[in-house]
Amino acid sequence: MNKKDNLLFVGFMGCGKSTIAKAYAKKYDKFFLDTDELIKQKFDLEIHKIFSLYGEDFFRNEEKKLIYFLKNLKNASIASGGGFIKHKKIKKIGTIVYLKSSFDYILNRLDETQILSRPLLSNLANAKILFDQRIQKYEKKADFIIDIEDKSIDQIITQIKKEVK
Ligand code: S3P
Repeated sequence: MNKKDNLLFVGFMGCGKSTIAKAYAKKYDKFFLDTDELIKQKFDLEIHKIFSLYGEDFFRNEEKKLIYFLKNLKNASIASGGGFIKHKKIKKIGTIVYLKSSFDYILNRLDETQILSRPLLSNLANAKILFDQRIQKYEKKADFIIDIEDKSIDQIITQIKKEVK
């Protein structure tokens, strides 16, 4: 674990980053934050509204600004949006944990509302292309890779705790 004791959860849309980061915070006494939630709260808008009103570049710029805020924190368990990995310098925030699963596993977990709330999931063929491109980025930047398929939340966070020490 690095000096700040922050964990940054990365992985594809819908893999459960927020659920895991929150459960980890509760069990291991950390503060929980979620980059999508911080941006939603700032504008009082849902993510798909931010995309449709202001565009993806605007959203990415908000994510970028968050890096400078998050890197000053200590003892936080942070869920990030699936595209947060695009940004340079995210390693400055803390230890990066990649929650890995297949595209099909993710799709099977999500209901219609969860799919509709994510603009980049609206076209599944494009989302699969994005998934294949992103995998390499997640693997490259991760300090730890945790395979989440068919595991309970408790199994996942216990494994993370063992690996990050
Ligand atoms: C995105 C993932 C979403 C959200 C936005 C863009 C992406 O977060 O940040 O819709 O580029 O993968 P989740 O991973 O929480 O769905």
